[in-house]
Amino acid sequence: MADRVEITFAKLASPGTGSAVVLTDQSLKLGARSAALDEAAGGRFARAATAAKFKGKALKSLQLLSPAGVDLDRIVFVGLGDPAKLTPQDWLKLGGTIASLVGGASDVTVMLERPDGEKVSGSEAADVALGIKLRAYSFEKYKTKKDDDEAPKSRRFTIATANAAAAEKAWIAASAVAEGVAFARDLVNEPANALGPVEFADQLKALSKLGVDVKVLGEADLRKLKMGSLLSVSQGSDRPPRVVVMRWRGAKDKTKPVAFVGKGVVFDTGGISMKPAAGMEDMKGDMGGAAAVSGLMRTLALRQAKVNAVGIVGLVENMPDGKATRPGDVVTSMSGQTIEVLNTDAEGRLVLADLLTYVQKQDDPVAMIDLATLTGAILVALGNFHAGLFCNNDGLSQELLSAGLETGEKVWRMPLGPDYDKLIDSKVADMKNIGGRFAGATTGAQFIQRFVEKDTPWAHLDVAGTAMGSPASEINQSWGSGWGVRLLDEFVRARFEKKG
Ligand code: BES
Ligand code: MN
Ligand code: ZN
Repeated sequence: MADRVEITFAKLASPGTGSAVVLTDQSLKLGARSAALDEAAGGRFARAATAAKFKGKALKSLQLLSPAGVDLDRIVFVGLGDPAKLTPQDWLKLGGTIASLVGGASDVTVMLERPDGEKVSGSEAADVALGIKLRAYSFEKYKTKKDDDEAPKSRRFTIATANAAAAEKAWIAASAVAEGVAFARDLVNEPANALGPVEFADQLKALSKLGVDVKVLGEADLRKLKMGSLLSVSQGSDRPPRVVVMRWRGAKDKTKPVAFVGKGVVFDTGGISMKPAAGMEDMKGDMGGAAAVSGLMRTLALRQAKVNAVGIVGLVENMPDGKATRPGDVVTSMSGQTIEVLNTDAEGRLVLADLLTYVQKQDDPVAMIDLATLTGAILVALGNFHAGLFCNNDGLSQELLSAGLETGEKVWRMPLGPDYDKLIDSKVADMKNIGGRFAGATTGAQFIQRFVEKDTPWAHLDVAGTAMGSPASEINQSWGSGWGVRLLDEFVRARFEKKG
């Protein structure tokens, strides 16, 4: 993982050396220990705040460099706004902001003390640490030249808090989330020449060390299973497809698993219906759904989640070639339903179709959630700020909407229905793989829904706008965002792990 950040927790005390981060509010109050540190450093905070017009607003900051009277490089004062109103997301953003403020420092102590005297909980402290980790991530694998003013090789953050033991405990789970997100980001950022279906599958095999049962299906297996829909996408590529099934059984009982399904198109040229050149490089991220599912499985295993879950990803490359699928070709899916492929660039749904059939047959899941960078249309509708949610079950939909608000990985529900479904009826086969000009994200979802059997609760998340290329934020500076790992981890916690 590329963040070079080490987190430790300690009891609340002023640091002797390095950099200190101190929290304040809109009345520029400091907690008792923080006030003592300011006093030891000459009591400059109030005057410096006035000089800099620093008002303690949320995530605003004031730096005192080489303060007199103490052996510190700097004291950074960070505003909380109103400390009584802070949500888990606010603590996360605070962590991210702290990591950005002290970018060049190698030894940072965060005095995690509320100015109003209230205690910071263990989970809030862990959220700060998670924010630091997520913000510090960067993908530098292919940079051979280093900048002079670059951040040091490794950075140590000590979170000083009244609840150090509780924080340490909460950090076990939160650091698993950090690792899962970083794993997903790495996979999305990796260029397609380095990450083909085989290389992707190889990375997932390593999850077996964490106790995940990993099964890799090769081309011959997929043929035997009659996954004609998925295979029609990969047949134009020199690189063979893989389907990887990851099973985590963390619930002791034999309850049915929840299934997570990911589109893993390692590169999408569009195939014979080829995409224009401008921006095509972004299609190395067309496996963002598969990356999120992979990151989630890693997180669930690392934190020993009490859930039975199956993750399945379809790894293919969509290329034009003498062997590639032509527009007008008819293929037969594993479900037996036939598909007229009118546009080879609408390939994600062809991959998901066979994955859904397989996982329903093999695992009989209680619910299925698929993630896919499926359509440009969802970007037109929602931009980078929500993923599109398509769902056949109001309860499941509500759970995902709530998890979105809790984590900040927000989803917005979009319509499904028979009027839209009709748009993908085909004259020559059971269905065609594109609708008309309008409602492109919904016709994509309707196509996938035709592979949901027996009304299994199912949700489709169109992550084309969120998995990659989102604007930088407090907790993400990376092109590949790892979107979905935190959302689905929260979904799992809320549905399967909350008592009472
Ligand atoms: N991978 C693309 C969708 C996409 C677009 C993802 C932009 C991320 C950013 C998908 O395979 C695709 O090409 N969809 C087509 C569907 C159309 C042919 C019905 C699209 O959105 O144009
Ligand atoms: Mn495409
Ligand atoms: Zn695609």
